[in-house]
Amino acid sequence: MGIKTLEVKLGRISLKTPIIIASGIFSYGEINLDYLDYKKLGAITTKTITFNPRKGNPQPRIWETPSGMINCIGLQNPGIKEFINKKLYSINIPGIKTIVSISGESTDEVKRMTELLVKKGVDAIELNLSCPNVNRENIMVSQSPADTYSFVKAVRDIDGNITLIAKLSPNITDITETALAAEKGGADVLNLINTVKAVAVDIKKKRIIEGGLSGSAIKPIGLRAVFDVYKKVKIPIIGTGGITTGQDALEYILMGASAVGIGSGLFSNPYLIDKIYLSFLQFLKENNIKKISNATGLLNEKKYKGAEKRED
Ligand SMILES: Cc1cc2nc3c(=O)[nH]c(=O)nc-3n(C[C@H](O)[C@H](O)[C@H](O)COP(=O)(O)O)c2cc1C
Repeated sequence: MGIKTLEVKLGRISLKTPIIIASGIFSYGEINLDYLDYKKLGAITTKTITFNPRKGNPQPRIWETPSGMINCIGLQNPGIKEFINKKLYSINIPGIKTIVSISGESTDEVKRMTELLVKKGVDAIELNLSCPNVNRENIMVSQSPADTYSFVKAVRDIDGNITLIAKLSPNITDITETALAAEKGGADVLNLINTVKAVAVDIKKKRIIEGGLSGSAIKPIGLRAVFDVYKKVKIPIIGTGGITTGQDALEYILMGASAVGIGSGLFSNPYLIDKIYLSFLQFLKENNIKKISNATGLLNEKKYKGAEKRED
C-alpha cells in the first residue's frame, strides 16, 4: 500500500498525509525536531500571529489538569511584520505545507495581515476566531455567527485563491451556526475545535488561571462538533482536540474529519505522529479501503445508514 493512500485535499492544497500539527505547538516550525518523521506529516500550523507584537501573559501559562491542561499563553508573538521578515522563510520543509495562523481584533486587522501574507505566496491561512472582537467586548469572534461571517469574508475578499481555514471555538451553544456562517463567508475548510474555556485555582498564591482546556478531556467535545458540523456543511473539516492515540485520530476521521490537528498530545508523546500514521494505514488495510479520504464520515449518520439513533 503506497503513501498516496493518505493524501488529502484541503481547499486548494493537497497534503501528503492528513496529519497536521495544530497551532501553538511547534512555534513557527523553524526548529528541526530530530524525533519527528517529517514524511508522515501533512502540514504544520504556525503559532497564531497578530497584527501587532504581543508579550503574552505572565507565568504560569500552563496548568496541568486531570486528562488535560489549561493554557493561557496570551498569543505571545512578534507581530505580522517581524514574522514575515524573520520566521516565514525558515519554515520551508520540503513536502510539508505551512498553514499560517492569524488572528485579529477587527476585520480591518485580518485584511491587512492577509494582504501581506498573500504577497509572500503563503499556501494557506488559518483564521483563529477565538480571540475577542474589539467592537464587541468579551465576545470571541466565533461565538457569534455574524462576526464569524464578516471576519471570514474579510479575508476571502482580499484573495479568492488562498486556502482559507476557519478555526472555531467550541464555546457556543450550537457550533453548526458558526460553521455555516464561516462556509458562507468563503472558508474552504473548518478546523474544529480550539480549546474549551476553563479555569484553574492556585490556592497557594491565591490566584486563578483563566485559559483554554486541551488534551484528552476535550476529545468528546471535539468529536461531537465534527459529528454535528459534518452533517451540515459541504467543506472539509480538520478535527482537533484531545488526540493522544492513533485510535483517537481515526475516530475523528470516521466522524467526518478529512484531516486531524495534533496539539498537546505531542507534549507527552513526541512519537504520536508515528502512531497515528500507522493506525491510518492499518485501518485502510484491515477494512480494504483504498484511501483515507474514503474513510471520512464513515460512521457519521450522514453516510452510515445503519447508525443507531439515540436521543442525547
Ligand atoms: C500551549 C498551547 C498553545 C496554543 N496556541 C494556539 C494558538 O496560538 N492558536 C490557536 O488557534 N490555537 C492554539 N492552541 C490550541 C490548539 O491548536 C488546539 O486547538 C487545542 O489545544 C486542542 O487540541 P489538543 O487537545 O490536541 O491540544 C494552543 C494550544 C496549546 C496547548
